Parts: sequence; C-alpha cells; structure tokens
Amino acid sequence: EKGGFEHYMTKEIFEQPETIRNTTRGRLDAERGTSILSGLNLSPRELVDIQRLLIVGCGTSMNAGLIGEYAIEDFAGIPAEVEQAAEFRYRNPIVGSRDLVLAISQSGETADTLAAVREAVEKGSLVAGLVNVVGSTIARETGRGIYLHAGPEISVASTKAFTSQVSVLLMIALKLARGRRLSQARGIEIVQEIKRIPELIEWVLETNDKIAEVAQHYTNYQNMFYIGRGYMYPVAMEGALKIKEISYIHAEGYNAAELKHGPIALLDENMPVIALANKGAGQDKTLSNVEECKARSAPVLGVVTAGDKESADIFDHVIEIPDCPQYTSVIPAAVALQLFSYHVARLRGCSIDQPRNLAKSVTVE
Ligand code: M6R
Repeated sequence: EKGGFEHYMTKEIFEQPETIRNTTRGRLDAERGTSILSGLNLSPRELVDIQRLLIVGCGTSMNAGLIGEYAIEDFAGIPAEVEQAAEFRYRNPIVGSRDLVLAISQSGETADTLAAVREAVEKGSLVAGLVNVVGSTIARETGRGIYLHAGPEISVASTKAFTSQVSVLLMIALKLARGRRLSQARGIEIVQEIKRIPELIEWVLETNDKIAEVAQHYTNYQNMFYIGRGYMYPVAMEGALKIKEISYIHAEGYNAAELKHGPIALLDENMPVIALANKGAGQDKTLSNVEECKARSAPVLGVVTAGDKESADIFDHVIEIPDCPQYTSVIPAAVALQLFSYHVARLRGCSIDQPRNLAKSVTVE
C-alpha cells in the first residue's frame, strides 16, 4: 500500500505530479485564460463584489494560505489576509457580507478551523472550504468550496495536500483577477504556467539522490534558519515546519529582511541558514543577506534556479529548482524542502510517518 516506498511520506511526495493533475483537471480554461471553479458557486457578478479575502487555517494549511494571499493581491488586486484559525475565532473578527472567507484544511476536521468557519457564517460572510477529505465537517458546513482531489494523505507531515492547496489558491487568484483587470492574454499565460506545475515537480523529484547527498551535511545540527522573501517567505515557514515535525531539529522560518532585526545574533557555525534564493524579485537582497550569514560563519544552503551559477557560487551547498515564475516556483521549492526534511529525518533515524506528540488531525483545541 506504500507503493514500493518505505514511508507514506515519500510515497505522497512522489505522487505530487499526479495529485496536481487531479487538482487542476477540468478546472483550467486555456482559451479564455481563466479557471473554472463551479464549487465556489459564485456568479461573475458576485465575484466582482468581493472586497476582501480572509484565509484561515492551521499549520501547513495556513502556510499555503500565505502564498494565496500574495497571489490574490498580486493577480487580482484584492486585499487578502491570512489568520491562524484560533486567532480568528476568538478575536471577534471584523467580517461581513462582501468578504470571502477561505477555510483551508486537508482533513476538514481541524477544530479551530471549523470554529472559524462557524464564526464567519454567523457574521454573514461568504465562506468556502478548500478541503481534501470529501464529506468532512468543514466541507459540509461551508456548503461551497473546492475539493483538493489529492487523495488520502496518511503521513502526519502534510506534503501533497500543501501543493494542491497552493494550486487551488492560484486558480482562485486567477478567477478573481479575470473578473477584474487581468487581460485574457495574461490569463492564458498564467494558465500555461499552472499547467506546467506537474513537470516542475517531476524535475525536482529526479534530483532526489542529490538532495539526499546534501542532507547528509545537515543532520547534526540542533537549530536551523529558513529564509525567503515575497512568495518564498511562506515557503521558508513551511520548510521549517516540515523539518521540525519529522527530524526534531528546531527551525525557524523567517522573512530574510527580518534577520538583522534580532535573529542574526544567533548565527555562528552551528546555525545553518537555508535560503530560498531562486530567480525573481528580491533575489539580490536575499543573496546579500546570505553573505551576512556567511560572515558570521553560518553554513549556507541555497535553493536556487537551475543554471544560475552566480548565485550558486555563494552557497556551501545548493538544491536546484527549474526556472519558472515566482508564483509557481513556490511548488518545486516546497517539494525540494519536503525531500530535504525527509532525508535529514531518515538519516537521524526518526519515525517519519508518525512523529512523536503529533496526530494527523487536530480535532480538539
Ligand atoms: O487537516 P488540516 O489541514 O486542517 O491540518 C492543519 C494542521 O494540523 C496540519 O497542516 C499540520 O500542521 C501538519 N502536521 C503539517 O505537516
């Protein structure tokens, strides 16, 4: 049942080209340059009336939401905010009928996310679920939404659900954007880029042996920093969460710019920094942050664009991802970090699918 893999986590990582095909199947209109998301059950008129997006979730689902926030603002120009579901539910949130609340949950059963849904429904806002498990409580209570179609995720560490969540969020951003100022031509380009995601993942999966080799150099640390900017900032957070969960190495995901506002004090030869430094906006700034880390003797590992020799030279080790726009590069970068965490945890002899103290679905607060 693990399909020849030693762990569910690796099976699920390797399934991602296929799960993304399932997530996007029938939902991309290459001619009109838009996405077809009938489960949202919102007419073009209703979509254009939406004045704000509020995204709620926990853990990995919240990290996916942060990427959605960037894409929705970037493509559609609609203000979007992400809130940890427990914070949202307890702080008497200001939401109303022109706000669309997106509740993201693999299981559809997370207690805080479900309570956030109920609070948003109570306040009269539009609420849609981005859920993997069909018929789960959140899917039923939202009444509208988009299933991930990623198939059952068994490993406690979420992998394929994350990449499907991000893909759905990109399709939502595209849909909202097309109803506003985004042209058909630009929409068509975005559809083409989303369609390339399975290939981008395949490209990274083929470098698995190389990632395993790099991981050997990072098994003996107690702490790590993950840094990124823009779209890559949530990827840094997700990378750090993944390594914490399965390898028990303390890791923090930081915006690269924030490093010098305190955390840099921690850097020395025992604190590696993993930098999301692929091509795109902010890359030069991230690379100069990496130089600052090196000056404090921190080992540096870069996630870089294949063939970008100049930036690769700065790092002690690199993991490559294929060249693509920043909004899709989050996916190959996240997959690379999933594999990196997996190999570090395996080399440390950790229980990959069932990390200590964790449950697959957090149904109590
Ligand atoms: O089922 P959900 O997506 O609502 O779960 C949310 C979090 O509990 C979950 O993503 C958790 O952080 C994972 N163990 C991360 O790998």
